Amino acid sequence: MSKLRKNVMMLAMLCAGGAAGSAGAEQKSVEVVHWWTSGGEAAALKVLKDDIARRGYAWKDSPIVGGGGDQERIVLRARVASGNPPDAVQLLGMTITDYAKEGLLGNIDAVAQKEGWAQVVPPPLQKFARFKGHWVAAPVNVHRTNWIWANKAIFDELKLTPPTSFDELVGLADTIRKAGYIPLAHGGQPWQEATLFDNAVMSAGGPKFYKQALIDLDPKALGSKTMEKAFEQMQKLRTLVDPHFSGRDWNLATAMVIHKKAAMQIMGDWAKGEFVKAGKKPNVDYLCFQYPGTAGTFIFLSDQFASFKVKEQQRPSQMVLVSTVMDREVQEKFSLLKGSIPARTDVQMDKFDDCGKQSMVDLKQASRSGALLGSFAHGYAMPEATQVVVKNVVSQFFNSDQSPAQATRQLASAVAHGM
Ligand code: BGC
Repeated sequence: MSKLRKNVMMLAMLCAGGAAGSAGAEQKSVEVVHWWTSGGEAAALKVLKDDIARRGYAWKDSPIVGGGGDQERIVLRARVASGNPPDAVQLLGMTITDYAKEGLLGNIDAVAQKEGWAQVVPPPLQKFARFKGHWVAAPVNVHRTNWIWANKAIFDELKLTPPTSFDELVGLADTIRKAGYIPLAHGGQPWQEATLFDNAVMSAGGPKFYKQALIDLDPKALGSKTMEKAFEQMQKLRTLVDPHFSGRDWNLATAMVIHKKAAMQIMGDWAKGEFVKAGKKPNVDYLCFQYPGTAGTFIFLSDQFASFKVKEQQRPSQMVLVSTVMDREVQEKFSLLKGSIPARTDVQMDKFDDCGKQSMVDLKQASRSGALLGSFAHGYAMPEATQVVVKNVVSQFFNSDQSPAQATRQLASAVAHGM
């Protein structure tokens, strides 16, 4: 046999071995459904992917594009209905509870107990990660929606300071527009408008009202004059955006702030992930501050990985995935890139920037004062079916010339009738 032929045969044998090896590895794989496709999100996701690889498992990536996860939830429903759930799914609050109630989530108590999750996950997150006492999801982080991200160069150039009241915010916008910048970068998608609404309701009514209206779904609060004030804020915010906002993705809106086209964006702190990815620093290139009227409050959400009931042979992969998600070092690295703060309370905050540190301080303070409340826009306030209905009302209002009084009436009626 010629030397060349021998080499080719050896190569062929190696490849065959490799293929058999990868067929084995195929079983040691974990399919993860998520919607993290922006630059900052993908960078953070890589931390999880790398850790899974380190543990000898292959990551089967199933991204479903669409900020806020609206598309993901639709696709997931269909997959679950056809009896083909993924091993792990990024999900938010009440949607986890909904699936747990339907008996579709598997119990991950064994790994949770072994790793002592109950001691390090704060109770407001455990409320959603556990169902009837059993762990069904693993929380990776805590995000907050009542943030404004601002371009520091524009603020410096126009000698602006962060607004402390809603009227002041509108006042700044005039100055910003006259200088040729867009006051507010916004993406016209229902979940982004819902994110504005989290802020407007908290600002107009404070934490007690926010809870009554959006968490307790109290009909009086939903149809109240205070709710009208929240819609008035939404109406004014609508005048601060550029004409091309419709359908724009949130990260493109963030890019407008990064590139000095727009002065501000009202968005959860995943926006910070985009600044981090672009190499920008807080208080140097950008500012982070609370939406006026919401200082001291913390509208929270947490990205969690829910474990569906899967075939027995996939259970070990599922356990490995949740163990990765809950790893202390992974949580630190992940949140540094994602813009969030870790779900675990035992992660040191020294590597975090000023916005991250502020988030941690505010979280603790808000938790003590009763101002730590779940985000309506991101699934932590009301069941998903109601959330969809409310989002429609809010988005319709933002994109029409309805009056705040009409929208308030429509909101109360839509929640009462579920449509
Ligand atoms: C998720 C974030 C994500 C954002 C934008 C939110 O619902 O919690 O992790 O970055 O949507 O896609």
